[in-house]
Amino acid sequence: MYAQLVETGAAEGGPEEQAFQERIDRNVQIEPRDWMPAGYRKTLVRQISQHAHSEVVGQAPEGNWITRAPSLQRKAILLAKVQDEAGHGLYLYCAAETLGISRDQLTEQLLTGKAKYSSIFNEPTLTWADVGAIGWLVDGAAIMNQVPLQRCSYGPYGRAMVRICKEESFHQRQGFDIMRALAHGTEKQKAMAQDALNRWWWPSLMMFGPSDKDSTHSAQSMRWGIKQNSNDELRQKFVDQTAPQAAWLGLTVPDPELAWNEEKGCFDFGEPDWDAFMAILKGNGTMNRERLNARNKAWDDGDWYREGLMAHAAKHEAAKTAAE
Ligand code: 3HC
Repeated sequence: MYAQLVETGAAEGGPEEQAFQERIDRNVQIEPRDWMPAGYRKTLVRQISQHAHSEVVGQAPEGNWITRAPSLQRKAILLAKVQDEAGHGLYLYCAAETLGISRDQLTEQLLTGKAKYSSIFNEPTLTWADVGAIGWLVDGAAIMNQVPLQRCSYGPYGRAMVRICKEESFHQRQGFDIMRALAHGTEKQKAMAQDALNRWWWPSLMMFGPSDKDSTHSAQSMRWGIKQNSNDELRQKFVDQTAPQAAWLGLTVPDPELAWNEEKGCFDFGEPDWDAFMAILKGNGTMNRERLNARNKAWDDGDWYREGLMAHAAKHEAAKTAAE
């Protein structure tokens, strides 16, 4: 079905596309049954599915610490957060399915390694402080990126973001609270927090995508009202918000070029290592293989459950037919 929908998109630049762009320019949201250019549909499936995959794979780094949380309270909070991420993934898969792609196609793309997910989830979680850094920095960056997506021109995606952003705020606050407890704790705890900041700072900046000059999709996604801001704009906002938080924690951001620029009214900061970023995208990050193996194992382990559901559905269908 998805392939047909992509093919039936009328010739680009025709009257339909002009009418479509006028709707976008008037901030009228596009709904699943509305006509849309094939390119709009394809880039939405690309972005929404990668977002969903990121949420699902993103459970693994923190999931590693659920059984090792330092208190029952921290364990309960972390459990709730990881469950939220699973829900975000399912929510976003549903938004992607409104564009005609099936859940099976999306799952196959992830499990075979064809699909991208956010590079940051290929980082290992070595200490409890990583759980704090993920909430504070990764979810903090996700909020920065997702709040504008609430105004996305595609209705189902923008609406999914409203609920997801509410939950992300809790995620960021609990992470910052872990960092506060460690940074204001013993010298050893503060060193753990600093080590986590050192390892998660630059991968968090990469979450906003490559620099604008290297971004393949930004210009068109902004014309189509999918993106409201460029990658660099949101990265700058994240640094401006987070650097003072690190200072309040008494931690040092691992960027010697970070400095407040009075004239520009924002922070100057260094350039992420884009070669390392591209290597992770090619599957050569620290945990790429483990993350994909974990997703494939989860899929295989769930086989019996899917079989039971299908058997129950078939029995229910047969009973319904017999009663007609
Ligand atoms: N990790 C992996 N791939 C990335 C990436 C990243 N951090 N940033 C960019 N890329 C990829 C893009 O997907 C694109 O590749 P493709 O053509 O094969 O899809 C390529 O690099 C060029 O990047 P562009 O800037 O041209 O791509 P976009 O316009 O799509 O911008 C984006 C990238 C800003 C990540 C955008 O896709 C976006 O806003 N996505 C939705 C939000 C999202 O996915 N957030 C990340 C994870 S969710 C999360 O963290 C949840 C939290 O609860 C933990």
